[in-house]
Amino acid sequence: MCGIVGYVGDKTAVPILMEGIKKLEYRGYDSAGIALLERGEMVFQKNAGKIKVLEENLAGKRFTATCGIAHTRWATHGEPNDTNAHPHTDESGRIAVVHNGIIENYRSLKKYLEGKGHTFRTETDTEIIAHLIEDNYDGDLLSAVRKALKRVEGTYGIAVVCKENPDEIIAARHGSPLVIGSGSGENFVASDVSAILRHTKQVVYLEDGELARVTPDGFSISTLQNVEVTPELQEIEWSLEQIEKGGFEHFMLKEIYEQPVALQNAQRGRLDFEDGMSRLAGLQLQLDELLSINRVILTACGTSWHAALIGEYLIEDLSRIPVEVEYASEFRYRSPIIPDGTVVFVISQSGETADTLAALREAKRKGATVLGICNVVGSTIARETNGGIYIHAGPEIGVASTKAFTSQIMVLSLVTLLLGRMRHMSIEKGRQLLEGIRNIPTQVQLILDNAEQVKRIADMYCDHNNFLYLGRGINFPVALEGALKLKEISYIHAEGYPAAEMKHGPIALIDENMPVVVIALKDQVYDKVLSNIQEIKARNGRVIAVASQGDDEIKRLADHVIYIPNVLYHLSPMLSIIPLQLLAYYIALNRGRDVDQPRNLAKSVTVE
Ligand code: M6R
Repeated sequence: MCGIVGYVGDKTAVPILMEGIKKLEYRGYDSAGIALLERGEMVFQKNAGKIKVLEENLAGKRFTATCGIAHTRWATHGEPNDTNAHPHTDESGRIAVVHNGIIENYRSLKKYLEGKGHTFRTETDTEIIAHLIEDNYDGDLLSAVRKALKRVEGTYGIAVVCKENPDEIIAARHGSPLVIGSGSGENFVASDVSAILRHTKQVVYLEDGELARVTPDGFSISTLQNVEVTPELQEIEWSLEQIEKGGFEHFMLKEIYEQPVALQNAQRGRLDFEDGMSRLAGLQLQLDELLSINRVILTACGTSWHAALIGEYLIEDLSRIPVEVEYASEFRYRSPIIPDGTVVFVISQSGETADTLAALREAKRKGATVLGICNVVGSTIARETNGGIYIHAGPEIGVASTKAFTSQIMVLSLVTLLLGRMRHMSIEKGRQLLEGIRNIPTQVQLILDNAEQVKRIADMYCDHNNFLYLGRGINFPVALEGALKLKEISYIHAEGYPAAEMKHGPIALIDENMPVVVIALKDQVYDKVLSNIQEIKARNGRVIAVASQGDDEIKRLADHVIYIPNVLYHLSPMLSIIPLQLLAYYIALNRGRDVDQPRNLAKSVTVE
């Protein structure tokens, strides 16, 4: 999605702004631009394509501006060309605006402004904001922005500069994340902390309906209704190294390899062997509240939704509480029934996904206790939930989610353990699960040590244009996730199915050109999955099996076998997904794809 960076201080703004938007590249974008307050004039440069193009166009120009705003745009209204790139300006070119989000009533506002003589240069909804501000401007930029935003419906995170207010950025948020970074003699605005982490770790997250006036010496926050807000400074825990590639070719590969550490962090301090249960203080639920839970709803999008499906198997099997899993985008527009005793978990890596946030708010409106499973500390979802558990995976920058997925499953296993031990689960069973959980990071490392084998298989199959992924039981969602990973970064068509469903349709696709990735672990459904493999082989399909260490039988059936360590059935997704992540990565690499920034995708989807 779009990215915003703003700087006002005593240094030259251009390098800070350019470096900032580069840090946001991973979020997905199709054009980039910058506006500077340069010696009393407003200067712009904006271009379709990568930031490199913008950089080339800025090269050789000596800018001294110490205040400016920059943007990466992910097109929603109007094609991704130079004109539609942000920043956008008012009629006179005095005011520049960068915007994340969507202005829903832009057509009626445009008509209104045209009636007042305004002319528009772009197809964007954002340009309306610049003109509306101009319409209300009398020298006080903050007041003009406030008045303009009162007329706007939709979502926005904006940063605004004006030629006549040279040391000032006005930022405002409604539904699109924005953070103010506090420095000494300089201050920052960004849509994501990674853009400003090099300069400051002291930040304030704007809430919906808040505006900030940012100058070199400080910032003040107020609401749309002009009520002053006392800023709450927070310290960012992430380090700069965590947002660098650290010698890996891609963030995705780095993040795949970070999984042993991430999984360790997700369980750190949360395992209680004495009582055979987990400690999850972040849930902020009293004993009686935990005991009164009689229904769980898990809601999320994309990969986080796949983690939710795994959560359903875990919680229903082991805690014996009925679970429903729902796409957040559907949940928000249904009229979900939420009787007493229902707890809703929203799962989100970024904590900013618009659909998940809307589902959270809908559940809260209906009176549910809503808990979060998030990665990004201080994100909107983390702030708006009644309690929750951070997965502590560290920054995930590759658009394809990897370490967040396994860490979400780790946290869901801990939730299961807690809820289960308060009900039917014995202390022995609890300890057995804990032991399994403790071993996961080492086992993941063993799979990663075998990455070369997966790479060889990827080399053999990278030219195929269709893949099928099959799994059963708790590994069915892993099949979905494996297929999603391949689709996202290699643009190969891939489908995930419960293995037994194959004969109800997808079997028609099987021939020698259809590689089928089958998760066939030695668990309660093993024999059934072997039968499915036989059905594939009988039709000349090619089978790549993910199997349990020591299983020789499968070698006779599958074309390729990738072994993973033996593991408890309920914890197996944290292992079985690893070869599938690697397979997707190496196939995409072979095809020359932009692994970290696949086309059309955004890291956090902050629009509907
Ligand atoms: O940040 P979230 O977990 O809420 O994001 C949800 C999805 O947008 C995300 O998982 C998406 O499907 C990823 N690209 C998957 O790799």
